[in-house]
Amino acid sequence: MCGIVGYIGHQDCGEILLNGLRRLEYRGYDSAGIAINTPEGLRVSRAEGKLTNLERAYLAEPFNGSQGLGHTRWATHGGPTEINAHPHQAGRVVLAHNGIIENYSELKEELAKAGREFLSATDTEVAAHLIDHQFELGATDLHDAVRRALGRMEGSYALVVMDTQDPDCLVVARFASPMVLGKGQGESFAASDVPAVLEHTREFVFLEDGDTAVLRADSMQVFDDAGNEVERTSRHINWDPISAEKQGYKHFMLKEIFEQPARIVDTLRGRVNVESGDVDLAEVDIDAEWLAGARKLVFVACGTSYYAAMVGKYLIERVAKIPVEVDLASEFRYRYPVIDEHTLCVAISQSGETADTLAAMRLAREHGAKAMAICNVIESTIARESDGVLYTHAGPEIGVASTKAFTTQLAAVSMLAVWLGRRRETIDADTGRVLLEELRGVPTAMEEMLVDHAIYEGIAHQFANAHSFLFLGRGVVYPIALEGALKLKEISYIHAEGYASGEMKHGPIALIDEEMPVVVVAPKNIVYEKTLSNVQEVLARDGRVISIVTEGDTHMPEISDVVIEMPDVGEFVQPMVASVAVQLLAYHIADFKGTDVDQPRNLAKSVTVE
Ligand code: M6R
Repeated sequence: MCGIVGYIGHQDCGEILLNGLRRLEYRGYDSAGIAINTPEGLRVSRAEGKLTNLERAYLAEPFNGSQGLGHTRWATHGGPTEINAHPHQAGRVVLAHNGIIENYSELKEELAKAGREFLSATDTEVAAHLIDHQFELGATDLHDAVRRALGRMEGSYALVVMDTQDPDCLVVARFASPMVLGKGQGESFAASDVPAVLEHTREFVFLEDGDTAVLRADSMQVFDDAGNEVERTSRHINWDPISAEKQGYKHFMLKEIFEQPARIVDTLRGRVNVESGDVDLAEVDIDAEWLAGARKLVFVACGTSYYAAMVGKYLIERVAKIPVEVDLASEFRYRYPVIDEHTLCVAISQSGETADTLAAMRLAREHGAKAMAICNVIESTIARESDGVLYTHAGPEIGVASTKAFTTQLAAVSMLAVWLGRRRETIDADTGRVLLEELRGVPTAMEEMLVDHAIYEGIAHQFANAHSFLFLGRGVVYPIALEGALKLKEISYIHAEGYASGEMKHGPIALIDEEMPVVVVAPKNIVYEKTLSNVQEVLARDGRVISIVTEGDTHMPEISDVVIEMPDVGEFVQPMVASVAVQLLAYHIADFKGTDVDQPRNLAKSVTVE
């Protein structure tokens, strides 16, 4: 949600900024802009819509310099127009901002009284004026002006600011919105996320809430909330910049679907020990005895991560016999949850920056719970604020529709189930071995699912004009039906609803007729026979059935229009393997329709506002 890139150094930065913004496209945006302090003075280029529009505008009248900033904006205050696009200028101050300044109208009124005029409808332009105004009030330099202005601002922000009268520095600030600093050779970077500048540096400094920083070509000073200069640890990031490229795939989403077997291997590596039937989660850094004695586990998450949490409930209750609640983070925050010091709260988030998930986790901690994060982004806010992190090793996920992040989250909750089961002695080493053997077989099973796409292309041909899809699942694959429906609506814009198969007759059955494709996730497991009966009910209403079944199954295919087979894997890992089928189904339908698969309309990759 919004992306920032800032540069100060020895090179012309036009290309650096545009490439950086390109790498942040996955975050979602609807306008973009860059500002560069050139030898002839400040030049700004902004455009509505996609980055190609900005590139066209910039290349029509190119400019360059070695101090600049760029921004992709996802509209909150004011529509996605050129005038509202960042960067914004006020006097000598130019800035780009992510987040929301909650008291902006009060500040705007005050600044208007002081003679300030506003061109846009944004809260960001108010911030630019507020900072510039500080020079009139006696600020000594840009850092001082920014710090004084921050003292007046309420809300969340990641800011990169430059002073047209000081070509040698950028000032950065962060509060509840992500911002990383990159250290290069004779150059410094600021960005909303690591991939933006990964081709230039691997050394990153992660700011904490309340921090400000002064970046120069050859130095980087960080200050805490109170204005004291502090050391923030620098981290070397190993991510391969190439893994953030499409590598010949038509879309990032397709590439990320194909990457899943390898990313699952990465996520299990060093943790799963099949021989001992156990999982090593030493890195989580929460006292093992405490964890084993926890009385309740509460998952908080949003969107796809919420469905991973739902799978977690099925697996953990079955294996570790601990009560598990699953909450949408946005609901948890306002429902007076019963949490105490014997509760383990597990926040699941790919980005580690989702505002609702972060707030839910904080709330649980306030009530005395221990918080664990299942997270993909190292040093993200959720990862840093939790008591322990189980990192998924999905690598950078660029497609807005989550795929490999989801299945690696499933790998993480599966490991957590076995880990808790062994510590709580609800399973022995033999059972642990069986479950972990199943887990170890997942990458191979996924590879098999990825070989032939003809079936999905055929479905796309046949069903892409449908107005609505119903996805059904039961037991451990019920969340996969929900995820399948979400994937389809996100990228193809076809309405889709996910339902528990057994609930269908309590309402959605009224929707079924010969126009309605019904996708049934029905591998062989303890509820298979029940699902079969549910599908008979669909058939009796002339519904068109697309079933996802265990290879060799003969019953479900008899009553299905189209059959997608998945390898015969244990129930414990069926959600992971079946996920590939619903992802490919959504992908091929969207591709057939020609939608913007990687950046679907209205969506942001990282939802950092409530
Ligand atoms: O980064 P997070 O996992 O916290 O994000 C949560 C949701 O915003 C995310 O899963 C969203 O639903 C995706 N677009 C799903 O494809």
